[in-house]
Amino acid sequence: MTLTFLLNGESVALRDVTPTTTLLDWLRETRGLTGTKEGCNEGDCGACTVIVSDETGARPLNACILLLPQLAGRAVRTVEGVSGPEGQLHPVQEAMIAHHGSQCGFCTPGFITSMACAHLNGERDHDRVLAGNLCRCTGYAPILRAARAAETAPIPAWITEDRAVIWPEIPSGGPAGRGADSPPSSLHPRCADEAARLYAAHPQATLIAGATDVGLWITKQLRDLDLPIFLGGCADLRKIDISDTEIRLGAGVTIAALMQAIAPFHPSYAAMLRRYGSEQVRAAATLGGNIANGSPIGDNAPALIALGATLHLRHGETRREIPLEAFFLDYGQQGRAPGEMVEAITLPRQPDRLRCYKISKRFDQDISALLGCFNITVNEGRITAARIAFGGMAGIPKRAQAVEAALIGQPWTEETITASHVAWAQDFAPLSDMRASADYRLDVARNLLMRYFLEDQGIATSVLEVQP
Ligand SMILES: Cc1cc2nc3c(=O)[nH]c(=O)nc-3n(C[C@H](O)[C@H](O)[C@H](O)COP(=O)(O)OP(=O)(O)OC[C@H]3O[C@@H](n4cnc5c(N)ncnc54)[C@H](O)[C@@H]3O)c2cc1C
Ligand code: FES
Ligand code: FES
Repeated sequence: MTLTFLLNGESVALRDVTPTTTLLDWLRETRGLTGTKEGCNEGDCGACTVIVSDETGARPLNACILLLPQLAGRAVRTVEGVSGPEGQLHPVQEAMIAHHGSQCGFCTPGFITSMACAHLNGERDHDRVLAGNLCRCTGYAPILRAARAAETAPIPAWITEDRAVIWPEIPSGGPAGRGADSPPSSLHPRCADEAARLYAAHPQATLIAGATDVGLWITKQLRDLDLPIFLGGCADLRKIDISDTEIRLGAGVTIAALMQAIAPFHPSYAAMLRRYGSEQVRAAATLGGNIANGSPIGDNAPALIALGATLHLRHGETRREIPLEAFFLDYGQQGRAPGEMVEAITLPRQPDRLRCYKISKRFDQDISALLGCFNITVNEGRITAARIAFGGMAGIPKRAQAVEAALIGQPWTEETITASHVAWAQDFAPLSDMRASADYRLDVARNLLMRYFLEDQGIATSVLEVQP
């Protein structure tokens, strides 16, 4: 079958593509579109940013970890397509020139595509939007000035035309097979039922959601993948259902969508997700991928465990539910059978007592050294319930059950927190690594409980505000 998408306004139909080809390689090596740069080749620098649109809108994505089949039925705009057909500059390009936003220029195409996408979406929070674009020589002040200067300029017609032509003229693509007689080189289910059936039938296959992990297996570890199953065509896996009793998040919900959906219920969780990777990473990465990869430093698991989340697993037609914390067995080991996929996660609706604290060396675009999530209920001055979960403190995301036990039933006071200090070492024996030493991790974890307490007393502790 043929893979179809729009590239800078033109329809592209590809047969027999290798499903693990990245968009970046294809653009540069096959199409000669070398404006899109390769910096890190692992999603960190944004030099390869392109704009990808579908019926849900336009978003910036890193082409270096975006696989060609993920584009089926979508529209891609590279830096070459940001300027007009007659060479007219986009307002963000004009502003970058006027404000001296480029020196060596290597990062500039990535900045331009991120800025053009934000301009299209009416985004004004340029610090957030550009946190995934690394510039080594110009410095950010002129670039931010340029982004602000272009805010009110009209959106050029050639940028919006993708929306007009993309559906239904572009068929939604399909398996990039090797021809009728050979087995398919990748599978492309259209719904969760089909995905579950295919994965159960091919348990050796690799599920691919946002590819922000899997992309690196290809670009950095040079791994061959056994039969990729692309989940991007399963719209039902991206559903978010909110009832009076629970919030149900499909496995394919992106971090960007989760951040928006969870903000009214648990704003601290949303604020923590604002620091998850970058705009480009959040637009691609999914909740299911972040849980299924079993990472001890994945940012969602501690928050979800603290909220008492349930994981919904599915093998073919068979479904089962487990508490999320029971999924993480040991380092690199999860309670998932071969051919079993993550279908959804549910959270009980509850009064918001959750606070999430991500500790990393940089504010933006950094992996957690540790992440502490606290959900403590206090009634009439006494702690009646506590769920505390951490990432980065053990080989798996883990609850602080000894600390919880030391708190429950006690008065909500500084003395209770001090008395709980010994319990931390019963819960955690963290490792020292390049991100933090074991002692630092244990000290900070204890301090975060104090921070939660102080915030609960109305004492602000923002890490972005230095107070005398
Ligand atoms: C630059 C960069 C920054 C990052 N920053 C952060 C960060 O700040 N915090 C953080 O937590 N992570 C971060 N990550 C890691 C990554 O974004 C996450 O782990 C991500 O959520 C994975 O989701 P995905 O959809 O991209 O998964 P994929 O890469 O598509 O898949 C990851 C794994 O999950 C499996 N999988 C996917 N979907 C399912 C499913 N439904 N059922 C079963 N298995 C499934 C895949 O087979 C694979 O084993 C970062 C990554 C990059 C590249
Ligand atoms: S090359 Fe650095 S993010 Fe793609
Ligand atoms: S202009 Fe040189 S890296 Fe940004």
